Amino acid sequence: MDIFVVEGGKRLEGSITVGGAKNAAVAIIPAAILSGDICRIENLPTISDVSVISQILVQLGAKVTQISNSVIEIDSRNLTGFQVSQELAKNMRASYYLLGALLGRFNRARVPMPGGCYFGVRPIDQHLKGFEALGADVGLRDGVVSLNAPNGLKANHIFMDVVSVGATINVMLASVKAEGLTIIENVAKEPHIVDLANFLNSMGADVRGAGTDVIKIRGVKELHGTTYSIIPDQIEAGTYMLAAAATGGDVTVNNIIPKHMECISKKLVEMGVSVYEYDDSIRIIRDGGLKACSVITMPHPGFPTDMQPQMAAVMALASGTSSITEGVWENRFQYIAELVKFGAKADVHGRVATFSGVEQLNGASVKATDLRGGAAMVIAALAAQGESSIREIFHIERGYEQLIDKLVGVGASITRKTVPDPPDKDEK
Ligand code: EPZ
Repeated sequence: MDIFVVEGGKRLEGSITVGGAKNAAVAIIPAAILSGDICRIENLPTISDVSVISQILVQLGAKVTQISNSVIEIDSRNLTGFQVSQELAKNMRASYYLLGALLGRFNRARVPMPGGCYFGVRPIDQHLKGFEALGADVGLRDGVVSLNAPNGLKANHIFMDVVSVGATINVMLASVKAEGLTIIENVAKEPHIVDLANFLNSMGADVRGAGTDVIKIRGVKELHGTTYSIIPDQIEAGTYMLAAAATGGDVTVNNIIPKHMECISKKLVEMGVSVYEYDDSIRIIRDGGLKACSVITMPHPGFPTDMQPQMAAVMALASGTSSITEGVWENRFQYIAELVKFGAKADVHGRVATFSGVEQLNGASVKATDLRGGAAMVIAALAAQGESSIREIFHIERGYEQLIDKLVGVGASITRKTVPDPPDKDEK
């Protein structure tokens, strides 16, 4: 197995450039098949989730050409498949965007229930409710979702019971070619929802209101190919901002949209960190101690749940008592059992975690419990005195491109090593 080995306690200094947004990329790539044409997607992150979703399109009959590291061309003119294999679907959450994209293209889809990080139950009832409202029959058998709309899709007025990124995206994908005006209320407003709407519009769709609570989509008969560049990754940028804060560093994060970083910047300022915003970069400097703060995660524009584990690693070092209330997921604190191995003092009660800041973390042997929990382990290891090792790094590599190179570029000591697998627990 591969692990990261980190020699911590080094101040990060220099600049890091972030890549394209993972959660926009994994929606835009399947969305491209709605065009039945050639789409060129730029500023893609080089991460495993992007290669898995691209492989799904290839399996369905699309031609996907890697033009450069961050650019692909998707030719879906000859794509005819409408069934996604279990093998690929189980590797990632976003495989379920093929439900909306295939339904929108062919009026039918068969997609196994998706994989992805485990944060307690992850229902998809709002996705299915949206598809049904557009006229699809929904079936669920042996873990495979089947959608069929033999008479085509018809616009409807849909009210989401919960604010869901995935359901908003899936219903957008299914309705761009549905006949009439679809109105979706109580939608998610994350930057990647706006990015998807812009991408769909660049293919000739008529999507309005993305970024507000109500999205209106007037169905069009045909879409066409496009060239589109994905927005920068808010969460990757935030992760490096917090790594700078945790190590008492001075790091400029480039290729960002400062507006997307506001809730994270404001928390860092509350914690005593200096934050300087420029047109498309942000500089983080910490030369004093960290002060405790509290965070409640919420759908956008609230503090992103995808930043809470990384924030926990910083809170572990902040003087006083900090807290995180998880407002999105039922159970997103599994990583805390690993964080305490560095010497963090943390307690979890239901959806609230509290941290009594310690002066120093110490190197530890830990595992990544999930993608962002893994990022928190990297931040803690960078800040800790001594050597740390992080197992199960495949979680981290689903979402962070060239993590080692980027961190080494700002002075971190982090390497990837192959070590023997641990003995099977059941072996005698
Ligand atoms: C997306 O997951 C992201 N994944 C997650 O990022 C992120 O944590 C999450 O949005 C919230 O921002 C991708 O974009 C691929 P939701 P998603 O539907 O769409 C409940 C990362 O680290 N819900 O917005 O699956 C659900 O249980 C990943 O990059 C329903 O009840 O999240 C949760 O409590 C991890 N019924 C809440 O809504 C539904 O039908 C928000 O989930 C759908 C969701």
